[in-house]
Amino acid sequence: SNPSLLILAGDGIGPEVMGQVIRIIDWFGDKRSITFDVTEDLVGGIAYDKHGVPLHDDTMERAQQVDAVLLGAVGGPKYDDLDFSVKPERGLLRLRKEMDLYANLRPAQCFDALADFSSLKKEVVAGLDIMIVRELTSGIYFGEPRGIFEEGNERVGINTQRYTESEIDRVARSAFELARRRGNKVCSMEKANVMESGILWREVVQKVHDEDYPDVELSHMYADTGAMQLCRWPKQFDVIVTDNLFGDLLSDAAAMLTGSLGMLPSASLGAPMANGRPKALYEPVHGSAPDIAGQEKANPIACILSFAMALRYSFDMGDDAKRVEDAVEKVLSDGVRTGDLMQAGEGKAVTTVQMGNAIIDALNTS
Ligand code: NAI
Ligand code: MG
Repeated sequence: SNPSLLILAGDGIGPEVMGQVIRIIDWFGDKRSITFDVTEDLVGGIAYDKHGVPLHDDTMERAQQVDAVLLGAVGGPKYDDLDFSVKPERGLLRLRKEMDLYANLRPAQCFDALADFSSLKKEVVAGLDIMIVRELTSGIYFGEPRGIFEEGNERVGINTQRYTESEIDRVARSAFELARRRGNKVCSMEKANVMESGILWREVVQKVHDEDYPDVELSHMYADTGAMQLCRWPKQFDVIVTDNLFGDLLSDAAAMLTGSLGMLPSASLGAPMANGRPKALYEPVHGSAPDIAGQEKANPIACILSFAMALRYSFDMGDDAKRVEDAVEKVLSDGVRTGDLMQAGEGKAVTTVQMGNAIIDALNTS
């Protein structure tokens, strides 16, 4: 049967950037005879407007059934004063929680044409292509006890880093599976020198490797050293796997190695389904950008690269993913730029649709 996709464009620039992804999906049908079964539905503020909740139960059920969910962005000033329980973000959080998406994938990829955008030297980032896998559903953001308590004559703030063996095991597997589709190398980061959860993390990752992924090259690094190495020579890495807290910091830092928010894709993966594909949600890192929404200024590349990740990691279509990424690379090296990719005083920005046009043209000549 055809690969199935649920598209949730959401709010603000979400529908604008997703519109360009839908054109690429259509291109695959027309030019490559690869048909996706696509359903579109609502998430975030727009779902609240229609149903009074940021994610309808029917949408949730559909998300559990499809091969992959593609999400645009949620939120906006119109919804800022809503009750916490129905805020647009709750729609996204519900998807992540009920699909149990425990592995958050954040690539840091540098297109040569944008190497000048990095705050690092060009030779340090040109051609960079690494993937950070962050554990997303456990660790210090969830561990108990947590809270602010009275202790003697003052208060104490407490959070608990807590990882079970099975939580470490499953995210390690995600990282090794990914590595096999990339450079076949995993670096695991923790602080086993000062944290027991780090000792267990290192042990379990090593065990999963030795038992089931001996073909993948595995190394271990303390997370603080890892932060230094990421800035010094990021190209030494392929896949980095780390916990929720360290992954939060390391992935934001790595993202900025490569430039604009409008370029950054992401994925969140869960357990393998009956067909062997992982539960999966793909989305750009950026939000709904209310400051430019409705003005045709948004850069659709983050959303397009998120779709390319779906091709590679959900559908085993690595060559087609590469085709999309190469089209993006070509367009950038031709100097086509949305406003977010321009320095002050540098030529004329193209619109969201014009960027889409250029990418489709590049696909046609690939
Ligand atoms: P944002 O990512 O929406 O925007 C930050 C800045 O980057 C803005 O100046 C925006 O114009 C620019 N920008 C973002 N994406 C761009 C693109 N594709 N092309 C060109 N420029 C782009 O973050 P912000 O402003 O903090 O949040 C705005 C709304 O989005 C809020 O309601 C927030 O809650 C929501 N949000 C949603 C997320 C999601 O859906 N996953 C993630 C982050 C924020
Ligand atoms: Mg963060």
